[in-house]
Amino acid sequence: MMKTGFIGAGTTGTALAVRLSQKGWPVVAVSSRTPSSAQRLADLVPDCRVCHTVQELVETTELVFITTPDDVITRVCREVQWRQGQSVVHCSGAHSVDILEPAKELGAGVGSFHPLQTFADVDQAIENLPGSAFALEAEEPLLSVLKDLASLLNGNWVQLRPGDKVLYHLAAVLSCNYLVTLVKLALDLWQDCGVSSKEATRALLPLLGGTINNIDRIGLPDCLTGPVARGDLGTIGRHLSALEARDPALLATYRELGLQTIPIALAKGKIDRQKAEEMRALLRPPEFFAHCHSEGVPMKSGRPKNLARGEVWQVSNGLGDSSPRQVRDIQ
Ligand SMILES: NC(=O)c1ccc[n+]([C@@H]2O[C@H](COP(=O)([O-])OP(=O)(O)OC[C@H]3O[C@@H](n4cnc5c(N)ncnc54)[C@H](OP(=O)(O)O)[C@@H]3O)[C@@H](O)[C@H]2O)c1
Repeated sequence: MMKTGFIGAGTTGTALAVRLSQKGWPVVAVSSRTPSSAQRLADLVPDCRVCHTVQELVETTELVFITTPDDVITRVCREVQWRQGQSVVHCSGAHSVDILEPAKELGAGVGSFHPLQTFADVDQAIENLPGSAFALEAEEPLLSVLKDLASLLNGNWVQLRPGDKVLYHLAAVLSCNYLVTLVKLALDLWQDCGVSSKEATRALLPLLGGTINNIDRIGLPDCLTGPVARGDLGTIGRHLSALEARDPALLATYRELGLQTIPIALAKGKIDRQKAEEMRALLRPPEFFAHCHSEGVPMKSGRPKNLARGEVWQVSNGLGDSSPRQVRDIQ
């Protein structure tokens, strides 16, 4: 086991230090921009001392975690005299190991160890960390050490190839941060119904929990429910009309998310290609159809069976609106 130190005593650094130490991993030193932050971490970890300079920490440890904000990792790394055989690791999800190049140039092993988890404050980070997945980047022998650390924290690990980090992090942002955004948008709509944010949050939480449960137990695509999964054009049409009047910006988001949901519904098998195409026609923004008028594309009506690119069809949205829709890209 390698004597380990943390530079940056915020939420991630403190949670890792506390949980690794509880598992018997030797967390022996901490340094941070603000001495009281470092002291707070040291108070939670037996036999961990506060170092007043980063260099002092590096000289007394074998494995160093830089858990500062992403933007200062390279600067901190460059300020230090690393030695051959030492290991240095950052926890950023967005950056690859390349940002530790100054340490590598001096002979240190470099890696990244990203907990795929959301840490809003120190107590919650300590609670949520065990069982998380960890994205690892490193070469041996450091890679094996990082796998051991993930296992000690009861977590799984995924090994990323160089260059994969941006897409990996983007996926995490979509499923974590933008879920928060979707909940905020839902709360705003509830407020229009006269329901307070607090009440609406209480009402939505079991729905969110049930959705996550279904993703876990049933998996994609079968866990998808709702009007797109059922091919319920009338309901989708009513949603679009309500948003047209209330919130055009949210309308664009709703349309796009609906379009992205159609392939999941198709994969689930409860709608056929014809229904999928009708939903696409309904969900695509009006600008998509605007030019077919001006270009005088001949229009067909009825229930389309064999759609061909460039054709224009009358498609009902279930509310009496049968505006012309053009087939642009059939998937
Ligand atoms: N938060 C998350 O949900 C999460 C999840 C996964 C990974 N991460 C990654 O974990 C890393 C840390 O993020 P965080 O959210 O834990 O940040 P954080 O809570 O803001 O903590 C960062 C810590 O670094 C200290 N610091 C700032 N500049 C410093 C410097 N120049 N030298 C030494 N210490 C410095 C801070 O200052 P003080 O000493 O003044 O307190 C603070 O204690 C980032 O790479 C982030 O991408 C975060």
